[in-house]
Amino acid sequence: MEIFTQSAALKTQAAAWKKAGETIALVPTMGYLHEGHLSLIRLARQNGDRVVVSIFVNPTQFSPTEDLDQYPRDFARDAQLCQQEGVDAIFHPAPEEMYAPDFSCWVQEESLSQTLCGAFRPIHFRGVCTVCLKLFHLSLADVAVFGMKDAQQLLVIQRMVRDLDVPIRILPAPLVREEDGLARSSRNKYLSPEERIRALALSRGLRLAGEAFRQGERDAQRLTGLVRQELEAVQAEKIDYVELMDRSTLRPAKDATGHTLLAVAAYIGKTRLIDNLFLDDATPRP
Ligand code: PAJ
Repeated sequence: MEIFTQSAALKTQAAAWKKAGETIALVPTMGYLHEGHLSLIRLARQNGDRVVVSIFVNPTQFSPTEDLDQYPRDFARDAQLCQQEGVDAIFHPAPEEMYAPDFSCWVQEESLSQTLCGAFRPIHFRGVCTVCLKLFHLSLADVAVFGMKDAQQLLVIQRMVRDLDVPIRILPAPLVREEDGLARSSRNKYLSPEERIRALALSRGLRLAGEAFRQGERDAQRLTGLVRQELEAVQAEKIDYVELMDRSTLRPAKDATGHTLLAVAAYIGKTRLIDNLFLDDATPRP
């Protein structure tokens, strides 16, 4: 497994692979890898001859008040996990390698990124789109894998690729949970044992809503109400949103008759957690 910190070196390796007729699958991450990331890597393995994992805590998707400095990092452990998973190359650049001091070009998706997390994190998706486009270019990837844990991010990236004719296929990967239902996330590390228990309210609320949906409940207010109730019961510090959205347009849905996404973002202690559940006829148990 190669570890690249320089963009030019990654590009040279990727070009050599392409020249040899090999396909490249990219998994963009911010590191502190967990089972969710590893499931993406395994999917990448099945969809490309070569797998590149980027590990880069991208500063431009954090606003000044967010957790950029505290964001968990453990590169040695990440590299070991990648090695075990048969990853061909890690790209681990320093921020200065990705952003010139006079960097001034941005990719801004202007529709899907306005709602849900975008409404609370105004520069977030601009940073995500910009860094992902750069990673797509540098890795020469044929395929990039994104998790449905960040359902809005996945949709925004798919829209960018469509609208800007980026020659890459975006492959969605299912959301991976802990045994007790908590969506896996690098930010779970912030949770104290007591907060970890309270955090289960997100997945429990979604599970209850999923069960109500399967029993015929379609009303957005009642479905979101089930999630809110759980969050209120554990006194979540702040609820950013609990919303039922059309899963392609991310516009609010009055009822869950089409293909909808029930999405939640809430603070447990100081930690902002997100989770979601697709509600349609094939809705799995969360
Ligand atoms: P990060 O939070 O590290 O996530 C990297 C990828 O792993 C994303 O596609 C995310 O959806 C996926 N992922 C995280 N937790 C998951 C889970 N429990 N189940 C399934 N997939 C999961 O998302 C980012 O980094 C950044 O915004 C990035 C795309 C790398 C751009 O900086």
